[in-house]
Amino acid sequence: MPTVLFEAENRKVEVPAGTTLRKAAKKAGVSVYGGVNKIANCRGFGLCGTDRVAVAPADCANSMTFFEKLQLGDKAKERLACQVKIQGDVVINTAPAIEYGKVMTENFKFIALALPFGVLTLGAVIYMVFEMVGKPLF
Ligand code: FES
Repeated sequence: MPTVLFEAENRKVEVPAGTTLRKAAKKAGVSVYGGVNKIANCRGFGLCGTDRVAVAPADCANSMTFFEKLQLGDKAKERLACQVKIQGDVVINTAPAIEYGKVMTENFKFIALALPFGVLTLGAVIYMVFEMVGKPLF
């Protein structure tokens, strides 16, 4: 059975060949998500691109899937943990996922602050339009 070493976390786990890296991480008690992405992710469907990891050596995993190429591009050095199927002993670096999580958390904070102002502005515009056409809302 292939061995998966999560370098930064210093955790090692054995999994059957073909297991996804996401499942191996779960088994090892390692998160492949950072920040807000721990909650806001697609649960392994390859759609969100949040579980970015570095896999070494690359030939001990399947080739990039359609969803990885879509999310990361053809020549990306990172992989999506949910799309990687382990074929041999690998060393995993979860730093890209943690970094991406920090970026997404900052974006989320901005959206959380901007959204109420956007909604208020939209309400004011709608109110003014109805006032201008002579059909007040209130
Ligand atoms: S969990 Fe969403 S892409 Fe992997």
